Amino acid sequence: MKDKEIERLIKLEEKRQRGAINLIASENYVSKDVLRALGSVFTNKYAEGYPGKRYYGGNEIVDKVENLAKERALKLFKLPNKKWVVNVQPYSGSPANLAVYLALVPLGAKIVGMSLSTGGHLTHGHKVSTTGKLWNWIHFGVSKKTELLDYDEIRKIARREKPKMIVAGFTAYSRVIDFKKLRKICDEIKAILMIDMSHFAGLVAGGAYPPPFPCADIVTTTTHKTLRGPRAAMIFLRKEFSEAVNKSVFPGLQGGPHINQIAAVAVCLKEAMSPNFKKHARQVVKNARVLARELQKRGWRIISGGTDSHLFLVDTWGRGLSGKTAQELLEAEKIIVNKNTIPYDTRSPFDPSGIRIGTAAVTTSGMKEKDIIKIAIKIDKILKKHANH
Ligand SMILES: Cc1ncc(COP(=O)(O)O)c(C=O)c1O
Repeated sequence: MKDKEIERLIKLEEKRQRGAINLIASENYVSKDVLRALGSVFTNKYAEGYPGKRYYGGNEIVDKVENLAKERALKLFKLPNKKWVVNVQPYSGSPANLAVYLALVPLGAKIVGMSLSTGGHLTHGHKVSTTGKLWNWIHFGVSKKTELLDYDEIRKIARREKPKMIVAGFTAYSRVIDFKKLRKICDEIKAILMIDMSHFAGLVAGGAYPPPFPCADIVTTTTHKTLRGPRAAMIFLRKEFSEAVNKSVFPGLQGGPHINQIAAVAVCLKEAMSPNFKKHARQVVKNARVLARELQKRGWRIISGGTDSHLFLVDTWGRGLSGKTAQELLEAEKIIVNKNTIPYDTRSPFDPSGIRIGTAAVTTSGMKEKDIIKIAIKIDKILKKHANH
């Protein structure tokens, strides 16, 4: 590479990534093939529009790439193409979610979603997100006692508010979501059900977490977390919503799609179809369960008592350590986690009561139960020195 400054920084980041234990729940390590597609000449191409209907010439090959990505996406999630379509153009998860709301919910109308403070995402109507400013959100959380979603409470809110849409999905909720119950609630009040499976898409693909299909009307997902692809997103839709949502993505919100990204998404989708990926997805969940159990054994309270996915939250404040301090102590020993609020947190999001731990990246790097137990011992050793009991 001629640019020595950037070359040096790439090398430093490679070294940092190799030298650390990465427990960030939303991160992963992509394959060389995904990187090859991302760094390919498709980055040179403008392709505004959709396959067969572009605003620029020279898109014969690009059309094949986008169609292949769509075909693979529907096949991976076992979606019959008579009923479902997929849009693979969203630049990332946030614009994907915004495009759906813009297409289907009148500005200012009500949407019911999961609050950020109990595990939802910023783009599910948090007040600092544009989504929170453009629509009237009513949030549900988790039960104070069980720290699990309380479907009776969600039903109560839905009946009272009669929203146009209910949104569920998480960044920091470790349990299975009961999609059937949410479908029933939506049917009762005639609301659209959108599931944001950004975090658990790879687990669904690998059969390690229940699929949100066919309960949901719309499923959005990033492709760079458990699905182990490039930074991008997809929107799966029942056919009746496709025209409005496709128009909302382009030309409503975006310009030219990033074809290099779409090519890399196609690669990761093919990888996720392999039997090895199924094994990997199950191992991710096994590793998360082992890590949660081993920390619990050593006196660390795990939110909701465990996990059904690739992530979980630890209440570090319960032993006198704020999430920020815990994150910094671990980082000094090259264990990378993020500070996180826990349900009903009394502390600020900048220095909350817990940390979030995820096992997708360490599983990609080949770790199994015995390696995970060693990590738990190490985390405990680092944190307990500074804990108050
Ligand atoms: C559930 C969920 N939705 C949406 C997003 C947004 O994705 P992006 O960061 O690609 O915009 C995230 C990212 O953390 C997420 O966890």
